Amino acid sequence: MEITVVQGDVTEIETDVLVVNLFEGATAPGGSTGAVDSALFGLITQLISDGEITGEESESVLIHTPNSAYPDFKPSRVLVVGLGPEESFDLNGVRRVSASVIRKLRLSGARQAATVVHGANDANSAGSDGAGSGGGRLIDPAAGAQAVAEGSLLGSYRFDKYKTVDSKRRPDIEGLAVIAPNSSKLGAIEAGVEKGIVYSLAETLARDLVNEPANKLSPADLAAVAEQVARDSGIGCTVLEEAEVSELGMGAYIGVAQGSDRPLKFIHMSYEGDPSNEGNNLWLVGKGITFDSGGISLKRGAGMGKMKGDMGGGASVIAAMQAISHLKPKLNVHAVCAATDNMPGASAQRPGDVVTAMNGMTIEVDNTDAEGRLTLADAIGYALSKGAARVVDVATLTGAARVALGDGVSPVFGNDDELVGAVLEASKSVGESMWRLPLDPVTKRQNSSRIADLKNTGGMGGGATTAAHFISDFAGDTPWVHIDVAATSMLDRTRGWTPAGATGVPTRSLIELAMTLGG
Ligand code: BES
Ligand code: MN
Ligand code: ZN
Repeated sequence: MEITVVQGDVTEIETDVLVVNLFEGATAPGGSTGAVDSALFGLITQLISDGEITGEESESVLIHTPNSAYPDFKPSRVLVVGLGPEESFDLNGVRRVSASVIRKLRLSGARQAATVVHGANDANSAGSDGAGSGGGRLIDPAAGAQAVAEGSLLGSYRFDKYKTVDSKRRPDIEGLAVIAPNSSKLGAIEAGVEKGIVYSLAETLARDLVNEPANKLSPADLAAVAEQVARDSGIGCTVLEEAEVSELGMGAYIGVAQGSDRPLKFIHMSYEGDPSNEGNNLWLVGKGITFDSGGISLKRGAGMGKMKGDMGGGASVIAAMQAISHLKPKLNVHAVCAATDNMPGASAQRPGDVVTAMNGMTIEVDNTDAEGRLTLADAIGYALSKGAARVVDVATLTGAARVALGDGVSPVFGNDDELVGAVLEASKSVGESMWRLPLDPVTKRQNSSRIADLKNTGGMGGGATTAAHFISDFAGDTPWVHIDVAATSMLDRTRGWTPAGATGVPTRSLIELAMTLGG
């Protein structure tokens, strides 16, 4: 789908379907909707008083407006979509509504569509503010246009490359035009749409990688994707092989990898946005388990297929680099992903083994299924050895994250209030919910081992927290944030702008974070 921006009167746009909107309970349509209503001789007002249009969020009514009946009205059809209550409408509302609209449009058979920026309340003529706007906050045109692009692109996402026989599949909308009703907002809307496309294409890449089956995405395949992204974006990418990783002393990472026949790949991408100021950097570290069987501490069979997505953190940091290199913040950004399978091969590590991480700490491997923190320990050790000033790690780390916060909110931990605050702020502005949990000293003790410095499991209670404490021991005093996306990286059913399957979370948050730190 191609998204463009057009300036003009909504009644004059030649398109298959024109999308306008209505807040819940509004009786007199204003703005662009009002202009359409007038051109259709009060048809929308009539449908409101008939009770067919209520303005409930994502409710939609398709009106056919043939040229023979309305010679002065160019669009062939009009889709009136509900925005819900005006008081609570926000950018996430724009994303949700845009996602539901794009799926409705697909079902309508339309090829081309045009949409207003929901909630920006533009009338179709310059200078007019649109009647019936009430007291709600207006959506900013640039941010609103970005949210329309994101909702449309992310909401129409499908992963169907392996379907060879599906006759019912509806084709995607070919072109979506975002309407700038007057020239004063044209630039803002164009910039917003452009940004929304960049953010969404990155999140889409992350989704594709998570949805990809493990037999199609090995550590080597993931590394090849990172190298391709780096080439296309003109940034650096180094991939270390097992011999080099071993040379660096990454015993925790190697312990995980040794149970698989597919070789590990340690991926390091680098974008230099502030080359004269090397310390101004952000290191994004993503868990990259291309399949997590649990290893010798084998997982049960039910649902194990989902563990193809255990590289969701890695996917998000690689994908974020694609957007960051495009948007060029004044900040050096690195992405690291210690990619490997976690398999129970003949040379797999055993529960009870002790491994030594790159920073010299020894770890008792109590459970080989707690492999993510082992690989992160060495990935963070590597980042610190290269002079990381800030580390943000993203990992599908613990089933306990779902127990704690469900599948709509990712738990966040950190040792630096400023960096934690920046991450939470970024997540909020892109609509990827996160919530900080404490790193309390009582729970930390659950990681202590009788025979080594640390144990890779924390026993009963606070599973997301003990995992975060484990990682914090490798981050040391360096400002560090950990985002556990185990529950939020994949969804069982469609929600808002996220179709069932991979969500791509938290790719847009990472991009936004880099943009604010380097702004
Ligand atoms: N990859 C899993 C966590 C996970 C669970 C991700 C469900 C997505 C959905 C991780 O490697 C794991 O197995 N964690 C264990 C840790 C335990 C053995 C201490 C868990 O959460 O059960
Ligand atoms: Mn595991
Ligand atoms: Zn895992």
